[in-house]
Amino acid sequence: MEKAKSLRILAIESSCDESAAAVLDERGGLLAHRIFSQVELHRVFGGVVPELASRDHVRRLLPLVRVALEDAVTRPPELHGIAYTAGPGLVGALLTGAALARSLAYAWGLPAVGVHHLEGHLLAVLLESDPPPFPHVALLVSGGHTLLIEVAAVGRYRVLGQTRDDAAGEAFDKTAKLLGLPYPGGPELARLADEGRAGAFEFPRPMLDRPGLELSFSGLKTSVLHAVRGRALSDQLRKDIARAVQEAIVDTLTVKALRALDATGLGELTVCGGVGANRLLRERLAREVGSRGGRVHYPRLEFCTDNAAMIAVAGLARLKAGEHDDLGIRARAQWSLESLRPIDT
Ligand code: KG4
Ligand code: ZN
Repeated sequence: MEKAKSLRILAIESSCDESAAAVLDERGGLLAHRIFSQVELHRVFGGVVPELASRDHVRRLLPLVRVALEDAVTRPPELHGIAYTAGPGLVGALLTGAALARSLAYAWGLPAVGVHHLEGHLLAVLLESDPPPFPHVALLVSGGHTLLIEVAAVGRYRVLGQTRDDAAGEAFDKTAKLLGLPYPGGPELARLADEGRAGAFEFPRPMLDRPGLELSFSGLKTSVLHAVRGRALSDQLRKDIARAVQEAIVDTLTVKALRALDATGLGELTVCGGVGANRLLRERLAREVGSRGGRVHYPRLEFCTDNAAMIAVAGLARLKAGEHDDLGIRARAQWSLESLRPIDT
């Protein structure tokens, strides 16, 4: 009997400030992935400037696609489809990737599929050698999102709770800014926190006193603002505040993640998004989830932050299930994760 052909796809990501391309083969695995981060471009502005992001994607994406195909030793006729991030994200930035993906697919006679960016984050862990079984709980913590999600299968997602205001990464970045740290301040704040003194400051753990899985981080930012206002910030003071901020965020995320495991009766937790790089969060979750007999899974660090490999994983699953878009070029700023079509794998 003839063996079923192994699907090979190109994937493109451009939802925010990372331009990325990847090539994934169903049997051969990830053949190539390239990322160009625009972080230097936006640093002077203290945050992502949407119009600059779009313009830079236009400059970067096509060369990235070319290099990724070269890395993968793949010519366009060897591809079976193209996946691209169709939302949620910055509309202008999304449109650059969507237009490129759609145009290449048209020129090469391939199907194209628009992928939900958060589904990409949720499935990035499938690129690891020992992925979690379904169902599991995912804690998605990035600069733009903070959600707890029950992942029953590919495409079968239930949002258990989410932030009412700032995302966890945003809370790190905004408080870091108050401490005079450059954007994005999360990793820098985490470094300072290592040298902070325990108990020097105490910031609120938002929403912990209430039942449920909703989160909120804007109050923390206000508390930090009060703590630093009118004070000459010595290096030690900065470190002490950084430590207390990190403690408050990590505590909140840990308690809510454990509550989500309790609420669903599940033992396996996946952490995805840039804040998943935080060492204290990793240590705390490993200890707490481990002591309950569960396990915590992470995509490797480069797949925690925005990348095209995760878009390829989601796109391959959807193309394989026969999904593809028409010739329209669309981008969605908002897109409910729960509205996606479940896929039986
Ligand atoms: O997933 P990601 O690249 O998200 C977005 O594009 O939104 O995550 C970036 C976020 C930033 O807010 C950054 O400050 C935060 O993740 N981050 C960290 C650490 N590394 C990255 N926050 C705390 N500790 C870290 N080690
Ligand atoms: Zn992301």
